[in-house]
Amino acid sequence: MTQEELFKNLIAHTKEYGFIFPSSDIYDGLSAVYDYGQMGSELKNNIKKYWWDAMTKLNENIVGIDSAIFMHPKIWKASGHVDAFNDPLIDNKDSKKRYRADVLLEDHIAKIEAKIEKEVEKGKKKFGDAFNEEQFRATNPNIQRNKEKIDQIKTKMADALNNNDLVALKQLILDCEIVDPISGTRNWTDVRQFNLMFSTQLGNISDESGILYLRPETAQGIFVNFLNVQKSGRMKIPFGIAQIGKAFRNEIVARQFIFRMREFEQMEMQFFVRPGEELKWFEKWRETRLKWHLAIGLGRENYRYHDHEKLAHYANAATDIEFNFPFGFKELEGIHSRTDFDLGRHQEFSGKKIQYFDPEQNTSYIPYVIETSIGLDRTFLALISAAYKQEKLENGEERVVMKFHPALAPVKVAVLPLTKKEELTAVAQKIMQELKFDFNCQYEEKDTIGKRYRRQDAIGTPYCVTVDFDSIQDGMVTLRERDSMSQERVPIEKIHPIVENKVSMKRLLEQI
Ligand code: GAP
Repeated sequence: MTQEELFKNLIAHTKEYGFIFPSSDIYDGLSAVYDYGQMGSELKNNIKKYWWDAMTKLNENIVGIDSAIFMHPKIWKASGHVDAFNDPLIDNKDSKKRYRADVLLEDHIAKIEAKIEKEVEKGKKKFGDAFNEEQFRATNPNIQRNKEKIDQIKTKMADALNNNDLVALKQLILDCEIVDPISGTRNWTDVRQFNLMFSTQLGNISDESGILYLRPETAQGIFVNFLNVQKSGRMKIPFGIAQIGKAFRNEIVARQFIFRMREFEQMEMQFFVRPGEELKWFEKWRETRLKWHLAIGLGRENYRYHDHEKLAHYANAATDIEFNFPFGFKELEGIHSRTDFDLGRHQEFSGKKIQYFDPEQNTSYIPYVIETSIGLDRTFLALISAAYKQEKLENGEERVVMKFHPALAPVKVAVLPLTKKEELTAVAQKIMQELKFDFNCQYEEKDTIGKRYRRQDAIGTPYCVTVDFDSIQDGMVTLRERDSMSQERVPIEKIHPIVENKVSMKRLLEQI
């Protein structure tokens, strides 16, 4: 099965089992907007809790806030979003479809990368056990040629984007001979800039001064509350402010399921430090954030850093943590050293002094900032795409199982009486009543036990508890574990501690 087919199956699975639905489904959906269903919301809440606790519980000097989506319009002028939060767009005159010029080039690069991987696969087959991948990658002439091509395109693209040179960007698309995937032609318009902020109008003001923006990032809500939090919380530098919330972007190319949406959620933390100490903290957060990802258990090989060579004018270090999504490595989280740019700009635009008096240095300054910014929906996508497994069992049957980390799984335990007989359901209901205060549980008595196990596998439930006729006599139940499918008899009173040990968020947090 190709990656593409697997991805399609995953999308269908998430709908069938209540993880994700297209928004406005009965009206044929709304492009790039999605709803999270009964399983999806649980999974999302667990991811949020993991991030929130990792920030605010593991770090005494990080506190969380929840700022409003609507903010004073001047904020977006100060932040640079009104003037520069643009994507370069290009239309194909034949298909009338609109694309992001940089995405067309990135897709082109991905095709060349795929050629490199194909060459490596060929080498593996040809040389068998004697294959030295590192050496092969460093010496094979086809790979070298393709790598050079990629480097050249990347350099030219970065130069054009940084210099806002839209003519050069179009020329690069023509030079790469990129065709429209729909019309197959190279009949492109010029590249133009398109602002990504959604705007709306305040009810009591009819002119331009009443324009409000839906925030395109949560970060600005933190910057403009810097003084409030620092003073009310008596925070001492270094300290951080964390926030989880919705963000909105009028993405031109919104695709790849929940990877790029028009309404999405971010989990952002701004860490305020002394000027001059920012690069030390940048390194610390670069490492800490990767540990957070690795604890989830999706495999080190599925993550990589992408250090930015060309930096935004206000940043002095930046890296992305990329994840190996079903469509290749793409940005999952950004970690940026943003200097004093944001607080400085808000000081300038608001006319309020935004400074911190450092008692140890006996001086005041605008703190420098390290930002960690991760998409909640992209984390969700990383999790479901790595967790989704189609397995062939020893008895020839197949199962689809979502191998979530137990601490993040939407449902922790399913309680299943073997039959609907009252003596069994009474015991099962009693177990359910005891577990439900601490764990998200499901109770199911319909269908064969095998079918019920399959349904729980499909939503990733780590444990199933089966109550049978022996349970009435000996007070023991069968505890079935999702991944190994092993079954053991355990006393009813042991269920709670066994489950607790496995699904506790502590299992994740202690690895960071
Ligand atoms: N405050 C910095 C900031 O917003 P960003 O790289 O634009 O930086 C941060 O966004 C993260 O938000 C990304 O790494 C990604 O995970 C997520 N993100 C950005 N745009 C998104 C979109 N349209 N749909 C889903 N997630 C998105």
